[in-house]
Amino acid sequence: MSLGIESIPGDVIILVMHYLDAKDLAALQRVCRHFYSLIEEFGWSLALRADPRPSHTLSKSVTHWTPRQQIRYTTITDRNWQHGEFVARPLSDRWSHKLQPVLAINDSRLLLAAGNSIYSYGFIPSYDAGVAPSVRLECVYSTSNSTHPNMDITSLVCIPNDHLDRTVFVGYANGIIEHLYLPPVNQDGSNAPVPVTVLESFDYYGEEVVESLSINSTHLLTVSSSGMVTYLPYASPTSSPQFVDLNTRSWSSYLSTRSSSPFVAFGTSSANPLFVHDVLPDGMSPAPSYLLAPSNENDRPSAVYDITSAPIAAPWGGSDQIIVSGWYDGFVRVHDLRSSSRTRNDNSNAGGDSQYSLTPTLNLADPWSFEPIYSLSVGGGSSAHIAAGSARHSVLAFWDVRSPGKGWSVHAPGNDSSPVYSVVVDGPRVFGANQSRGFVLDFGPGVLEDTYPPVTIHATPTRPNARNQRQRSEDGLRRLGKGSAGFYVTKYSHARPSNC
Ligand SMILES: *[C@@H]1O[C@H](CO)[C@@H](O)[C@H](O)[C@H]1NC(C)=O
Ligand SMILES: *[C@@H]1O[C@H](CO)[C@@H](O)[C@H](O)[C@H]1NC(C)=O
Ligand SMILES: *[C@@H]1O[C@H](CO)[C@@H](O)[C@H](O)[C@H]1NC(C)=O
Ligand SMILES: *[C@@H]1O[C@H](CO)[C@@H](O)[C@H](O)[C@H]1NC(C)=O
Ligand SMILES: *[C@@H]1O[C@H](CO)[C@@H](O)[C@H](O)[C@H]1NC(C)=O
Repeated sequence: MSLGIESIPGDVIILVMHYLDAKDLAALQRVCRHFYSLIEEFGWSLALRADPRPSHTLSKSVTHWTPRQQIRYTTITDRNWQHGEFVARPLSDRWSHKLQPVLAINDSRLLLAAGNSIYSYGFIPSYDAGVAPSVRLECVYSTSNSTHPNMDITSLVCIPNDHLDRTVFVGYANGIIEHLYLPPVNQDGSNAPVPVTVLESFDYYGEEVVESLSINSTHLLTVSSSGMVTYLPYASPTSSPQFVDLNTRSWSSYLSTRSSSPFVAFGTSSANPLFVHDVLPDGMSPAPSYLLAPSNENDRPSAVYDITSAPIAAPWGGSDQIIVSGWYDGFVRVHDLRSSSRTRNDNSNAGGDSQYSLTPTLNLADPWSFEPIYSLSVGGGSSAHIAAGSARHSVLAFWDVRSPGKGWSVHAPGNDSSPVYSVVVDGPRVFGANQSRGFVLDFGPGVLEDTYPPVTIHATPTRPNARNQRQRSEDGLRRLGKGSAGFYVTKYSHARPSNC
């Protein structure tokens, strides 16, 4: 007596589906009609739940896609990441002078602050899963005309879960911090800059640069260039801010309040440039609880320019106890606060609190570039990629943390000598900004010419005998062949030989 496959009860098959990935499901769907409909109904959504890949730019689109379409999109995207295949595009025309832009993203929009303007890019839903959701320039806001004209924005964060959906904090080069409302634009076709509304203004820092802002839905943490930290419970206006002086040139901060033991990490220039302070219910502890060291004691004191953590779906677990930092010596270092290899420091501080030292679990560097790392972001294909913006040549370096020896790098389209000041990895897309404009690398399927804002190519007057120069523009941009939405970029591998 033989049992037909159809006689296996549906709920047993559904149980088995929990252990299958997209490839297995696709294979199983071809077995018989019974399996096909079970997987159509349950399999893809189970797989989606087991491996969620939230993406801000896709969030308005995926609600229109079936679970199978979403998995297909992610599978293609992951493969493109693995092979380093993407469409590269500038996001705007070149700015007239050199700026140090800052990027911020959430489900509502991508904001790019450059000089005293804020470029707002909206996400247009795609109802067809085969076509990439597009990114549109909604408007350009101008800030600070009346209060402090021509003062550059040095940091920007979106205020989380604000019902107005249009509020940000920005820090300026002159020490001012502003709470801004970005008014909606009426589509009258004019491209005139739209003035922002200043809701509140804070002046804690004299003339010092506001280097870094980090935020959650109740607290804002700001750091000035000399290391003055302000911890502001902005959601309860009656509470007063707390100040802690780090007493050293400071660059970056990362506030983590996801876990039960919130902390803030600071990046500075000093003998111990990267350290962590606990955040207790009554405020930030004045002394560090962890010193996060480079790999060994012989490493010279350095500086830490950017700090981030891993996304929820990262292969090393979505723990926010993982700290990823970008250093002056060109290294990206990954520290895991859960690591057992921490050592307790003898000189624990006066309060008797313990202080630990911790070495990295991972050290990453592009062996062909000794440039400092200015910007960092983690995510992308399989949520496993680290993107690091370097200080020169508009280079972004990538590593897959599952095989960290096999890194690769790419120059921004039309590269020259600028740093990548800011980078945001958002699922299939990497947004970056250098001194002359924003750009995007899109690893997803279905990218078309109008997925991104139009690009004007300022053609160089054709020189006699310059045969291959025809498509090259004065700003170095060169289109890939006809029919492609992308621009030419230079990529190189920096895989380590496996015998060392
Ligand atoms: C997204 O950013 C806007 C500012 O552009 C902010 O007002 C809003 O609260 C943010 N949304 C979420 C869900 O955090
Ligand atoms: C702010 O100033 C800039 C240049 O000074 C000008 O182009 C822009 O229109 C001004 N914006 C507003 C809202 O006044
Ligand atoms: C924001 O962070 C602070 C600690 O820095 C924490 O006390 C507070 O609960 C957090 N707020 C939310 C809504 O998570
Ligand atoms: C910055 O990136 C843009 C867009 O990819 C590129 O056209 C430009 O040449 C780069 N600028 C500099 C200064 O590197
Ligand atoms: C970008 O810069 C690198 C190094 O300077 C150079 O080798 C490469 O040819 C440049 N790529 C483009 C597209 O200009």
